[in-house]
Amino acid sequence: MNMQQSLSVNAFGIGCFAAITATLIAVTFVLTKTPIEENVRRHKTAALYEIITTDKFDNDLFADTIELPGTEFGYSQNISAHVATTAGRVTTIIFPVLSSQGYSGDISLLVGINADSSIAGVRVITHTETPGLGDKLELKKSPWLLSFNGLKKVAQQPWAVKKDGGQFDQFTGATITPRAVVNAVGKSLDYFHKHRRQLLDRSAGNRAKNTGDISNGN
Ligand SMILES: Cc1cc2nc3c(=O)[nH]c(=O)nc-3n(C[C@H](O)[C@H](O)[C@H](O)COP(=O)(O)O)c2cc1C
Repeated sequence: MNMQQSLSVNAFGIGCFAAITATLIAVTFVLTKTPIEENVRRHKTAALYEIITTDKFDNDLFADTIELPGTEFGYSQNISAHVATTAGRVTTIIFPVLSSQGYSGDISLLVGINADSSIAGVRVITHTETPGLGDKLELKKSPWLLSFNGLKKVAQQPWAVKKDGGQFDQFTGATITPRAVVNAVGKSLDYFHKHRRQLLDRSAGNRAKNTGDISNGN
């Protein structure tokens, strides 16, 4: 075999290897995409019922949603917030929130806010923070997330981690992750404050308006 033929054989071999690898990656992606999405969906449902336990509402949280401008919550597209009611009165709204300020990627959360503007609960749905450093935002690793429960935003207690002069603990050697979560929850509270009246109003006319144009204060 001369040099030319040897090069051709090698090139063919590398080409075949690349094609097989690419096919395997594509097949793995297709096969795992649905289970991963299903897993996230299941995790989100469980988190929702942790934030608001079933004795605190009498409606269907998945049927009773309100479409809101996603850009207010870190998303590029509109989001569906879950509305919990008792005898027709809104008790809690649970917002899907995305923070892009994580140390190693986006952090997706559910933030529940009660009608009186206090936090019902916060849960992290997905994150890629560093194990042992930033992953204390998982309840199975640390109770840190529970420190939001029942809080309202008040001027005397800055809504920030302690390192930034606020009330929330940072993690040992990791301030970026908790700062990201504190900021995202704080922004959700700001949105709730600004639109509280419309968000709590269950009248049919206003519910119809509670889509994109709520961000204009309508
Ligand atoms: C390999 C590596 C991984 C890290 N992972 C995180 C993390 O997941 N979350 C975090 O807040 N900080 C993480 N840190 C620490 C940050 O770089 C930073 O030092 C820390 O959050 C303190 O931030 P501050 O200077 O704003 O207080 C990591 C550092 C290293 C070297």
